[in-house]
Amino acid sequence: MKPKVAVTRKIPESILERLREKCEVKLWPEEDEPVPRNVLEEMVRDADGLYCLLTETVDDALLAAAPKLKVVSNMAVGYNNIDVEAASRRRIMVTNTPGVLTETTADLTFALLLATARRLVEASDFLRQGRWKTWSPMLLTGMDVYGATLGIIGMGRIGEAVARRAKGFGMRILYCNRTRREEAERTLGAEYATLDELLEQSDFVVILTPLTPETRGLIGERELGRMKRTAVLINAARGGIVDEDALYRALRDGDIWAAGLDVFEEEPVKPDHPLLTLPNVVALPHIGSASVRTRTRMAEMAADNLLDALSGRLPAHLVNREVFER
Ligand code: NAP
Ligand code: GLV
Repeated sequence: MKPKVAVTRKIPESILERLREKCEVKLWPEEDEPVPRNVLEEMVRDADGLYCLLTETVDDALLAAAPKLKVVSNMAVGYNNIDVEAASRRRIMVTNTPGVLTETTADLTFALLLATARRLVEASDFLRQGRWKTWSPMLLTGMDVYGATLGIIGMGRIGEAVARRAKGFGMRILYCNRTRREEAERTLGAEYATLDELLEQSDFVVILTPLTPETRGLIGERELGRMKRTAVLINAARGGIVDEDALYRALRDGDIWAAGLDVFEEEPVKPDHPLLTLPNVVALPHIGSASVRTRTRMAEMAADNLLDALSGRLPAHLVNREVFER
């Protein structure tokens, strides 16, 4: 008998076919609409595997509704949508897709930094709205990126890839992690800093930590108050890391200069969200890893993880290794 697998969104057909060869697949076939919770609960009831996206909340209640579940394969590197502790307690493997999206997400992070610094979206809207009357000395002036100081909070795979790009822009690179990255210090000239030192000295602060209980609300009123009034905040990690009310006030009152956001506390962010009323915010719909090649590779990697787990092999990207070893 083939194992049963629930797949929570339309994924590339070739990958679905691979899954169907080995598994009985129950698919939520929509592309633009997440699976409703009650449907998901029904889908996992007799499932051995769950192939899901970061839009699905995989909490203890969902796991409790899936007594046969052996693996949750997330098509994302971040897995804050999954209660890993609850999964481990139930001896369910959790897998993710690290590495394959690193360079693509670093490209987007740096693009967002440049767009925010140089007001690209605002300038493009200005032109399209017919407001461009003449070249003028201080029209739509922004902040220089070349030679500025970049502070990376979360110098992991993507943080380091952003630092490599920054090196080409002649930037001084500060970083803050719980552990030092001596290799990055040697090869990129990155300097280890405390969070406060980084906030006080950086012209651009880029957030690239996972969302965890420790990083939730990491950047709030106090931290924004430590930043330069000319500084730019870029969040390409997860929305909950930044206190959005505090960020709104800081941007409105000119305590910091601008923000570039690929992620929000609640996604999709409501079009009338206060942050979206500000001209000094560049906002994107969580597209960090969104290139055709990378999304395809992520989908493949999530399928490999799932199939390995179901056939008793160690999945390449197992988050809770203790479950396999027990
Ligand atoms: P990673 O290699 O694990 O890097 C995360 C870094 O954050 C690590 O260096 C870690 O170092 C640091 N960190 C963790 N907790 C910290 C804390 N409390 N304070 C300071 N630093 C902390 O992960 P990655 O592959 O670079 O991905 C990072 C995150 O980016 C993902 O978790 C995901 O949420 C997000 N992401 C977003 C997109 C998007 O579309 N916008 C795409 C991909 C990923 P220490 O453990 O030493 O502290
Ligand atoms: C995207 O946000 C991811 O975590 O892969």
